[in-house]
Amino acid sequence: MNALIRPKEYYSTDTFRSEQDSIFLKTWQCVGFKRDLANDRDFITKEIGGLSVVVQNFEGNLRAFTNVCSHRFNRIQTDCKGNGPLQCAYHGWLYNDEGLPIGIPKRPRFDGMTPERIISLKLKSWRVELCGDLVFICADTEAPTLAEYLGATFDFLESMANSCGELIDENIMVIQANWKVLVENTLESYHVGFVHPNTFARLATSQGDFEWDQPHSRWVTKLGTKFVERLGKLMQVFESRPLKFEGYIHQFLFPNLTVATTQGTSFSIQFFEPIDENSTKFTSVVFQTKLNGARASGAATIDALNQSVKAFNRSVFNEDKVICEQVQIGARMTDQYGVLSDEELRVLDFQQRYKTQMEHL
Ligand code: FES
Repeated sequence: MNALIRPKEYYSTDTFRSEQDSIFLKTWQCVGFKRDLANDRDFITKEIGGLSVVVQNFEGNLRAFTNVCSHRFNRIQTDCKGNGPLQCAYHGWLYNDEGLPIGIPKRPRFDGMTPERIISLKLKSWRVELCGDLVFICADTEAPTLAEYLGATFDFLESMANSCGELIDENIMVIQANWKVLVENTLESYHVGFVHPNTFARLATSQGDFEWDQPHSRWVTKLGTKFVERLGKLMQVFESRPLKFEGYIHQFLFPNLTVATTQGTSFSIQFFEPIDENSTKFTSVVFQTKLNGARASGAATIDALNQSVKAFNRSVFNEDKVICEQVQIGARMTDQYGVLSDEELRVLDFQQRYKTQMEHL
């Protein structure tokens, strides 16, 4: 079967601009973890659909706004995450939990700064909803709720997100490839034997089952025999883990988030954030499972395993980075559609949803 996305759509500036409106400003986007927004004034910033967005804790309530000051357009919060009031660093305008500028230095020096005028200067708000520890936001007021958007995947994702314990690794890199190249790479195991012969190919078998909850999809597969033998001796340390999944599970959430777990012992979450048509910010966050009291007795084993999980993930993603950057170069040199095998059905599913979403412009 032929792919549905033409090579040009991986590098066209016009396509990239259209995606901002038709995909990233229309769908729910995961921006991070509730644990990073636990305290009053904690905030996270993200670039979504060509806009800077801030998600901030206001005395326990999470709110999201376009992160651009109504005075003269400065970005209000400038760090990726932190703690502080929603106050612009340029002239000091201070915003409240409704996005209203409630503190304007030297306010009498502005003509006509009436209460009505203040309301007209309110920041544009985004919807905020949670799935377990994951925080999602959406710019579109007409979009379905997060629970409706995730469908049957909601419960599965919530149980995984709520099982995340200690942070093992956060790995951020800019990859010189279109975001769709990276997403499609993660949706198929056909490449594993060639690109990851000494890493991922030893973890999981390339078979397994696909499960669909359009536009989201899941791959469930068995672990490789040698890996199971190695892990077998260690599994008693994880006996108290909340989720006792079998094998390796890889969950994709349209358009650009993946969550994977090996037996429920660790959880790996990947964000693919488009920078421009030729580059993507890739963030991988890995958590150890929550453990009820097992840490003290198995601390050395857990620490060793965490180091191994961290090294493993980084090796796999470095291998993917190399190949995806070559794909990005190659896409410019052809006008033929790609070809997909039945091992790449999740790529086809992604492309179908992508085309549908783009046609709704
Ligand atoms: Fe924000 Fe002036 S630009 S206070």
